[in-house]
Amino acid sequence: DRLEVAPTRPVGPDYRSPSQKPAATVSTDVDCETVTILPQTPQLIALLSIIRDKNTDRGDFIFYSNRIIRLLVEEGLNHLPTVARPVTTPVGRPYDGLAFEGKICGVSIMRAGEAMEQGLRDCCRSVRIGKILIQRDEETAMPKLFYDKLPEDIADRWVLLLDPMFATGGSAIMAVEVLKSRGVKEERILFINLIASPEGIKNFATKFPRLRVVTAFVDQGLDEKNYIIPGLGDFGDRYYTM
Ligand code: URA
Repeated sequence: DRLEVAPTRPVGPDYRSPSQKPAATVSTDVDCETVTILPQTPQLIALLSIIRDKNTDRGDFIFYSNRIIRLLVEEGLNHLPTVARPVTTPVGRPYDGLAFEGKICGVSIMRAGEAMEQGLRDCCRSVRIGKILIQRDEETAMPKLFYDKLPEDIADRWVLLLDPMFATGGSAIMAVEVLKSRGVKEERILFINLIASPEGIKNFATKFPRLRVVTAFVDQGLDEKNYIIPGLGDFGDRYYTM
């Protein structure tokens, strides 16, 4: 069961002594400026431990995945452009703030990506959300586009592309190609996922060097069936059916 265990390191705030910081497996580092990995905090590692556990039931899987999705969406929003926004407070004092600039939309890769839509709606009220369905073509074993429904003005928007598991990157690459064919610029796409594989990140960075990726964790790799390891199994099955 625990044959291939990645190296661990103490996790916790700097002010704690090493003996107060239990060791845990943290994300693999990635030497790629376009990839943002969430800080490996005790909170994130504890949430990931619950959803990775094969004994976690569906209710907990949904609840704790949603919490990680919320952290990812909040981080993703930091990568959108902002402008200065000076305001005056109720006590008559100035505050030099910021405001987001530009329109956004979400695009979920069905079915698992749909699990991330609510997290985006919770942060961005009445956000437009498009969908893309990509499945393996039984004849060629290659990813194939089956369906898409995207906002008409998508070329004028920043796109948060949603898919929880970034394995080989096959579907995500096809989804990005669909977005580009509708006029979306690569540098205006943020791909948001819970767990990424080093292989997926490498494939993506080679093909789309200006596209940003925001992930909670980069895992060890892929198994012979292209499941992420250690991973969490099939995200869609665990979120929707198990
Ligand atoms: N999709 C999943 O749900 N899990 C994986 O490990 C890889 C792709």
